[in-house]
Amino acid sequence: MVRKAVIPAAGLGTRFLPVTKAQPKEMLPIIDTPTIQYVVQEAIDAGIEDILIISGKGKRAIEDHFDRSPELELLLNQKGKTEQFYEVSRLGEMANIHFIRQKELKGLGDAISYARQHTGDEPFVVMLGDTIIDSVIPVTQQLIDVYNQFCQSVIAVEEVAPEKVARYGIIAGKSIDERTYQLSGIVEKPKPAESPSNLAVAGRYILTPEVYSILDDLPPGVNNEIQLTDALQILLKRENIYAYRFEGRRHDIGNKLDYLKTTVEYALKRAEFAEPFMEFLKSVVAREKNYES
Ligand code: G1P
Repeated sequence: MVRKAVIPAAGLGTRFLPVTKAQPKEMLPIIDTPTIQYVVQEAIDAGIEDILIISGKGKRAIEDHFDRSPELELLLNQKGKTEQFYEVSRLGEMANIHFIRQKELKGLGDAISYARQHTGDEPFVVMLGDTIIDSVIPVTQQLIDVYNQFCQSVIAVEEVAPEKVARYGIIAGKSIDERTYQLSGIVEKPKPAESPSNLAVAGRYILTPEVYSILDDLPPGVNNEIQLTDALQILLKRENIYAYRFEGRRHDIGNKLDYLKTTVEYALKRAEFAEPFMEFLKSVVAREKNYES
């Protein structure tokens, strides 16, 4: 049974400077909610209540966000701000959230190895802290359903444009059904001409504990980082690994353009903003068109 999630959130967020100089990228808000809160909510919606966040230097704001804040709660209560009071106090009790700090930024594979003691000999979910996925059924739940069928590692994948494969881990595999693949290989950031497919690793994994013994002596790979992808390529020689083309829309918050698009989409989904914001967007488009003509 999959009961625990690991959220790596130690990265420097260099793609999002300067705002990430003194602020974790995982705290960048989509309207009023930090990215990582969507990730934690996805875990909870999939029935996972034990979450380990791999943090690092400059990431204190994440801990504070998921902690109780008695002074703020008292103030909101006294002022009769009931809705905000419940929202703030819920955050302190959302799940059983633990933290551990990655000592050096040596890559995603190294970050995951910090979870070893916490997850022990159980399978666990890995959820990248800068990726949110909008879906009817939480993607983590979709992966758990596949895990329950095979009891082996499962990776969420999505099709990407061929020219974008070099940004991702890419899988090779044979299709088992409409959405499920059995892996024959996995490679980190291949050149487009050498890519085995256009199925990209999308920031959600269920891993078996066997991966830890591989991470122990894994040399650095692409970008001189210890790559989780390289560990999975070795794991594949010992166990089957599956990939699942999930249903949902992935948003990479570490990328500025994607971040802007996500904010717009999420604003249009909120009842209080949908209409006025759509009106505003239409007026912006109309104005731009006028300039063009
Ligand atoms: C990481 C993984 C990569 C995956 C990607 C998804 O890369 O190493 O396999 O496809 O996340 O966002 P990064 O974005 O850290 O370079």
